[in-house]
Order: sequence, then C-alpha cells, then structure tokens
Amino acid sequence: RTCILIGAGIDCGKRRRGCSMGPDALRVAGLAETLTALGWSVEDRGDLPGPKAPPPAPEGHVHALTQTAEWTRLLSDAALNAMAEGFPIFMGGDHALSLGTVAGVADYAAATGRPLFVLWLDAHPDVHNPDTTASGNLHGTPIGYVTGQPGFDGFPPLMNPVPPGNICFIGLRSVDGPERAAIQSAGMRAIDMRQIDERGIAAPLAEFIAEVRAANGMLHLSLDVDFLDPAIAPAVGTTVPGGATFREAHLAMEMLHDSGLVTSLDLVELNPFLDDRGRTASLMADLTGSLFGRRVFDRPTRSYS
Ligand code: ARG
Ligand code: MN
Ligand code: MN
Ligand code: MN
Repeated sequence: RTCILIGAGIDCGKRRRGCSMGPDALRVAGLAETLTALGWSVEDRGDLPGPKAPPPAPEGHVHALTQTAEWTRLLSDAALNAMAEGFPIFMGGDHALSLGTVAGVADYAAATGRPLFVLWLDAHPDVHNPDTTASGNLHGTPIGYVTGQPGFDGFPPLMNPVPPGNICFIGLRSVDGPERAAIQSAGMRAIDMRQIDERGIAAPLAEFIAEVRAANGMLHLSLDVDFLDPAIAPAVGTTVPGGATFREAHLAMEMLHDSGLVTSLDLVELNPFLDDRGRTASLMADLTGSLFGRRVFDRPTRSYS
C-alpha cells in the first residue's frame, strides 16, 4: 500500500502563527522514513499552495474566513483525489485543515457507498460554527462544518455531511457551553479525560472500533497535538493540562492499526515555533509509526554509551 503525504501549512484557523511550519517539522522528524521502514511506499506530494499570508484586513468577528474557505476548497479536492490513490496523511497546519479533509474524505466514502466515521483525538471538540464561536477562531469549527451545522456562509457547500452519531471524541477536557449543547443534542460519542482515568483508553476505543467494523465503515483519524499532555507535547498554542500520556497515545495508535479500519489521517496543530528541540514533532511522527504498524518488538535496541 501507498501512503501519500500532503503538506498543508494552513495557519489562519487562529491568531497565533507558526503551524505553517508544521509540514516541514514532520518531514525533519523523519515521518516518511518511519513509514518506509515499516514497508509502506511513501509519496510526499509537497505542500498545497494555499493562501499563506495573514489576511489584509480584519473581516469581523470570525478570523480569516475568506482564507479558510479557500483552504477548505483546496483540501477537500486534494482529499477526495488522494483517497482513490492510497492512504492520505495530511500534515498540518492548524485544525481548520479538517474542514476540508473530512469533507473530501466524506465525498469519497459516499462514492464507495461505505459510511464514514471520524475519530477526533483532541482536548477540544471543535464543534463550533461561525455563529457560536466566542474566539472567532475557525480551528474550533471543523466538526460543526462537516456535520452540516448552519452558519458557514462563504464556505464550499457540504455535499456529504457526516452523521453526528459517527463522530467520536476522545481526550476532551476543554469544552465550551454551546459545544456541550451541540454534542448532547446531536448524540455524538464523547470520551472525556475523566472516563479515560476511570476506564483506561482501551475500553472506550475498542467499543468505537467495534461499531465502525459492524457498519463496514471507513475511519478518518484527526490527531490534534493538544490531545497529548503538554508535558510531552509542548509545541501547540492551545495547551490544556491533563492530556493523554505517551503510553495511552501509543496504545490507541496500536489498537487502531490492528483494527485495519483507518483510511486517512490528519496531523494538526503542531507549532514548531513552540517546540523543545523537536520533541513534539518527533512524537507525532512516532505515533504515526505506531498507527502504521510499528510494534515495541520492532523498535531498535537503544544503546546508552
Ligand atoms: N473552543 C476554543 C475556541 O473555539 C478552542 C478551540 C481549540 N481548537 C483547536 N483546534 N486547538 O476557540
Ligand atoms: Mn483541535
Ligand atoms: Mn485542540
Ligand atoms: Mn526546535
């Protein structure tokens, strides 16, 4: 199988800049080499030519709406096309990337007749729409967009909304009021950190995987750096204490690999400007390695000379 790396340095989903450097940091961390060593053939398609500069003038409450809409168009086309050719890995870029990638993957799934499920590993549910967001940051809206919420004027019309029941959040610990209301009224599956504390990460993840398998679904995985505890993953603008540990995160990736159900991946919110000697970028590349089949017994013996 081939995996296709697509860089998308979208940086307009919030005010703090730096995610534009994410794709190169993931390359420097050896993402392609990691996957090649696991027997995958890897095609790095370079970076999508999305709008780079910050917008010329503020457009009101919502930050960089026009730019984000343009990225959404580009990314959904790229996602739809790449799905037909292999396993796409979208190297972000902030989480506004997923307005496009999930929409494009949903178009592909609809064409194949299989239902699409989305696993959202994140401290935040990102289920706002432009009318409910208090921050005006569109990286907090992708789930709102792909589930067909209103308010996304100026964005590409959504062809294939993802049913809210097909969304699963894991790792939640920062949820705004309107987001809680949306999750509860739409019936999305939400595993917060308390549930992980009480049950571990394996049990709730296994339940979701079983549901995807029973439906013969395709599974899109969206991995936000802030899913991870900031102590192990500092390179993100929206750190929230009490995140997933190294072991929980790798276990989730290994279980997802074993499921054989994941068909596309977003790696988002990496801000290399905030990193500590590349450790967050390296962790994201390593987690991707676990998702693509690396096991503890495959890791080279470490030498401590
Ligand atoms: N809910 C907050 C907001 O709307 C935080 C969103 C954080 N999203 C993210 N992709 N890091 O601004
Ligand atoms: Mn997010
Ligand atoms: Mn987040
Ligand atoms: Mn560094």
